[in-house]
Amino acid sequence: MTLRITYYGHSTLMVETSGHKIVVDPFFAPNNPLAPVSVDEVEADFILLTHGHSDHTADAAALAAATGALVIGNFEVVSWMEAHGAKRGHGMNTGGAYTFPFGRLKMTVAHHSSTMPDGSAGGNPNGMLITFNDGHDVYLAGDTALTYDMKLIGEAGGVDLAVLPIGDNFTMGPDDAVVAAQFVKAKHVLPVHYNTFPPIRQNAYNFAKELYSLAEIDCTVLEPGGVMVLE
Ligand code: NI
Ligand code: MN
Repeated sequence: MTLRITYYGHSTLMVETSGHKIVVDPFFAPNNPLAPVSVDEVEADFILLTHGHSDHTADAAALAAATGALVIGNFEVVSWMEAHGAKRGHGMNTGGAYTFPFGRLKMTVAHHSSTMPDGSAGGNPNGMLITFNDGHDVYLAGDTALTYDMKLIGEAGGVDLAVLPIGDNFTMGPDDAVVAAQFVKAKHVLPVHYNTFPPIRQNAYNFAKELYSLAEIDCTVLEPGGVMVLE
């Protein structure tokens, strides 16, 4: 079985597997200047939210209200979404895992912040470690600094794909992302959270070259709207 991953720019992804549509950190046009589609063009069964910041949640409540998708994230973020139109939510917290219809999802540590778009408290930010039912292990780092805790993921066997921010300024930058990829023992990396705004301009193709030359880890650079498939 396969995972089909569409990148919409910034940190927004659609993962399609075993008939499920899973949207990660919905931030679509016109809120997201890179996104080729608006939220009303998107379908979702599940919405994963790594934290409360608007560049990850701006379209989440609307997407959840329109689709009835189950919103998964930390307890505070999910409660806020339910108060803003989401019909179904599943709150979690750092270190907890739960088995959903698409696979098992564990909330990992992220070093960042998580205020909601209206300034209310958004709990702690997270990454997500997902073992999809098709067998692929995927680590969504979320917005985070490089952290030594990432080594725990590598020591537990590593991942097929690590989705890592490379923008710098608000998250780790490309050099730290190379180290993160090694810490989590990624077979493959998808860089995200860059080029959306001037402070996070990066050349992802240079990052891909560095990642291979320093760590021999493959990297796929997707332009917004681009698709990668894990067989
Ligand atoms: Ni953030
Ligand atoms: Mn962000």
